[in-house]
Amino acid sequence: MTSFEYQEALKNAAKSMVRVKNPRRLLKMIVRFINREVGLSHASILMYDQDKSQYIFVDSRGRHRIPIKLVKLDERNPLIRWFSEKGNHTGKDRLSKDYLTHEQVNLWLKNPAIMNNGHADELKEHILQLQDVMLTLKAAVCVPGYYKKELLGVLILGEKIAGGAFTPEELSFFQTLANDASMTIKNARYQEDLLAKNLLLEKKRTILQERLREIEQMRKKEQETYYQIVMSLAREVYAKDPYTSGHMEDVARLGVMTAEKLGFDLTGKKKDILVAALHLHDVGKIGIPDHVLMKPERLTDEEWKIMKEHPSRGAMILEPLTDFKRVAHIVRHHHERFDGKGYPDGLKGEEIPIEARIIAVVDAFHAIVSTRCYRRGRSVLIAFDELRANAGTQFDAEVVNAFIAAYQSSSMDQTEYKSHHDAH
Ligand SMILES: [Fe+2]
Repeated sequence: MTSFEYQEALKNAAKSMVRVKNPRRLLKMIVRFINREVGLSHASILMYDQDKSQYIFVDSRGRHRIPIKLVKLDERNPLIRWFSEKGNHTGKDRLSKDYLTHEQVNLWLKNPAIMNNGHADELKEHILQLQDVMLTLKAAVCVPGYYKKELLGVLILGEKIAGGAFTPEELSFFQTLANDASMTIKNARYQEDLLAKNLLLEKKRTILQERLREIEQMRKKEQETYYQIVMSLAREVYAKDPYTSGHMEDVARLGVMTAEKLGFDLTGKKKDILVAALHLHDVGKIGIPDHVLMKPERLTDEEWKIMKEHPSRGAMILEPLTDFKRVAHIVRHHHERFDGKGYPDGLKGEEIPIEARIIAVVDAFHAIVSTRCYRRGRSVLIAFDELRANAGTQFDAEVVNAFIAAYQSSSMDQTEYKSHHDAH
């Protein structure tokens, strides 16, 4: 092969290397290429196997090919040691480690002067071992392939069939081939590792997402269960109090109608929050003894004190409904007054959540029109008057107006409502 031919061959080899993703296939291609183009008694490649921590033959071609399954070299093998020491050159010897030819080895052994550096015995021993390995492998030349300082493999070539020593051009060609192949192998391995890592990461991520979904579902389920419990508590409260008995739905409907009239945004969870608050605002009454809750006469100061705790108790009961944090907040403030004279916190005007201001009006209306055991329910018109009279002090005037407008425009006829309540 001429110099030009080598360069061409090299270019072609480099091109195919870029395309090759499987490093073993690449090495086999190189072995076949050298064997065909140069004409050798054999061409073989040793490659480092990470899993086995050994150098193994991936391919061997030619008349004197090596039985690749049988021969494996570990890191203590003289040949491997020779090339591995290139990276951490300690000055033990200054002999070339770019490649190894048997002529070179013979020359070194015949000329002890080049080894005259204080480690001569050790070095000579190593070179004798090298000679031995090369004879066993029928190697005329060994060319290491590195990636940075890591020995990835060794090209082991037999004698030229045509005879004669290898030219410097040929040796340099083998070196370039070995190093390019090493780089390609390293890249392919890197890609493989990266792919494996990504797959693992992806798998972990999927598992995590599934787990999070499960947790979220469990949490939702718990919230639903809790909501059901709280609702049944609220129903119990309503059932105990004769004037509200059976009117939970009425209260909720009137409240939503008022909110709509006010132009209050009911999109998303906002309507659910309002409805839940309308249903649950008196749930805190659950702890109040029946004789207080159902007392027809005026409550004593002590009894009032207990009664006035129901908004904060209700908020405490609703605290675990984390999806409905606002419900607890609304419930806490449903007995605040617009003028700031209500309880439990004396909030004023806009400080009071709008839903709580709505509940205050709807709840008062209900109390007025409903028949209690000690008096008949009064008419809707009387209730309206009372609401209007207290607008701006007890109630938010805007909410009162919206409520009356909503009530009047609704299908709920006044007489119908009244007779409905009189039935109790
Ligand atoms: Fe209340």
